[in-house]
Formats: sequence, C-alpha cells, structure tokens
Amino acid sequence: MINDLDGVRAVVTGGARGIGAEMAKGLAAAGARVLVADLNEEAARAMAAAIGGETIACRVDVRERSSVRAMIETAAARFGGVDAVFNNAGIAQVRPFLDITEEDWRTVMDVNGLGVLIGMQEAIRQMKRQGTGGSIVNTASIAGKQGYEPLAHYSASKFAVVALTQAAARAFGKDAIRVNAICPGVVATDMWKLIDQGFRDNGLSSSENEAFDGFAAGAVLGRASRPDDMAGVACFLAGKGSAFMTGQTLLVDGGMVFD
Ligand SMILES: NC(=O)c1ccc[n+]([C@@H]2O[C@H](COP(=O)([O-])OP(=O)(O)OC[C@H]3O[C@@H](n4cnc5c(N)ncnc54)[C@H](O)[C@@H]3O)[C@@H](O)[C@H]2O)c1
Repeated sequence: MINDLDGVRAVVTGGARGIGAEMAKGLAAAGARVLVADLNEEAARAMAAAIGGETIACRVDVRERSSVRAMIETAAARFGGVDAVFNNAGIAQVRPFLDITEEDWRTVMDVNGLGVLIGMQEAIRQMKRQGTGGSIVNTASIAGKQGYEPLAHYSASKFAVVALTQAAARAFGKDAIRVNAICPGVVATDMWKLIDQGFRDNGLSSSENEAFDGFAAGAVLGRASRPDDMAGVACFLAGKGSAFMTGQTLLVDGGMVFD
C-alpha cells in the first residue's frame, strides 16, 4: 500500500480543529501515530481523544521556540522519533490594503511566517539527530500563489511559507528530509467564518457567506472545499508515495488557481 503510514510518527500544529484536525484524523486512519498540537490545549486534547488509538495532544504556541521544541520533544519521547511534521497553524485577518498597520503585519507574520520557520527548524534538527530523514509539510494557501487585496499581509505570509518550503527543500535534500506545502483554496472552517465577518465589517460584503460563496464560486469543481479534502494529500506527502517529491507546493483548491 503506497499510502500506508504504519510506523510513521507525525505532529500536526493547529490540529485541534479545521484543516489540521482533518489532517490528523486522516494520518491516524492511515496508521500513523499523531501528536495533535494547538494553542488551545483543551480542544487539542478533545480532538486527540476523539481520534483515539495512540493519538496524543499538547499545547503549542508556534511563535515561541521553547514551546515548539517541547512539542517535538514530546512526540520524540512518546513515539521514539518524528517522521512527519505538519506546520499547519495559521491565522487570517481582513484589512483593506491602506489600513494594514505595523501591528497587523507583525501579528499575522508572527504566526504564519515565523511560526512556520521555527516549526521547520525544530523538526529538521530532530530529524537530523535521528538520521532517518523525514517529511515536512507546511500549510500555505492559494494566497501564497496570488495576492488578494483585503488579505494582503496574509497573502505575504503565505508567500513566505512557499519561500521557506523551497529554501529548506534545497538545504536538506541531502539529509533525506523532504519539504512540501499544501495550498488550500476556500475551506469551510472557523477561519473562513472570521474572514467572512471581516469582509462585512469592512463593507466589502453585505450578508453572511456572501464573500465565502463568492470566492468558492471560483473553484471549477463546483463547490467550496471541506477540511477533509486536505487529508488525502496530507497522507500522500507523509508517505512513500511522495518519496521523490520535495520543494513542491500542491494546490488543493478544487481548481481555483492553475500553477
Ligand atoms: N480555511 C481556509 O479556507 C484556508 C485556506 C488556505 C489556507 N488555510 C490555512 O490552513 C491552516 C488551517 O486553517 P483553518 O481554516 O483550519 O483555521 P482554523 O482557524 O479553523 O484553525 C486553526 C488552528 O490553529 C490554531 N492556532 C492559531 N494560532 C496558533 C499558534 N500561535 N500556535 C498554535 N496553534 C495556533 C488555532 O487554535 C486553531 O485550532 C492555516 O494555516 C490557514 O492559513 C486555510
């Protein structure tokens, strides 16, 4: 079985809900042992319990190196090592271009940019210590491929994720560490509820789901994405089926952006 993840030791940040939770479920269903890590520890623990089996949980703040290091150490101690790390935690913010403040920029870049850098560094250090190689998967976005006006700083942070993915792939191929990214499109999660609200708050849409439906209409497969649409690709990137792939950004968006 090319996607059989038996024996794979995985970590998913932002795993308590949304896309991360569905990635964690998919990985566990394919046989991986999974650490669900999230800023919301209670929700992470509830998600791990719901997934069951050997799934464990911990709190992490991806902006803080000591917290990320402790997360990797938790997985390594419990599972005997780490093979696949999903840097998935992220935040979004809607701001008209001219209204983006320095504080907005730092808030978004801290989680989406710096958080992914730290997550990659600590995962790669662990994989190099093990000498086993591994797979790192970062959650970017269609906004990491195109700039979207009321999400300009969010888009910049996701372009940063793509750059970090490519740079690390070049740096650590010799260590058999693969680094790829998933670019979701418009996914029905709490994040999009917040984005939809942001459009209304800024007078960019007038009714609930107008922005969501408007963006989702761009998918040639004819529907918005569900978080579980990301699970199969997550398993593929963690497993042997993608063994010769690195530095790639996979658009999993129902056909919104063609690369
Ligand atoms: N929903 C979409 O349409 C969409 C599209 C493209 C990309 N993405 C990306 O997918 C990822 C997941 O998005 P989602 O829609 O599931 O979001 P979500 O808001 O539903 O879930 C995000 C999770 O990340 C956690 N988190 C936030 N800040 C954190 C931090 N500092 N440290 C640790 N955990 C933190 C939250 O507690 C939450 O559980 C994000 O990186 C997002 O940018 C989402």
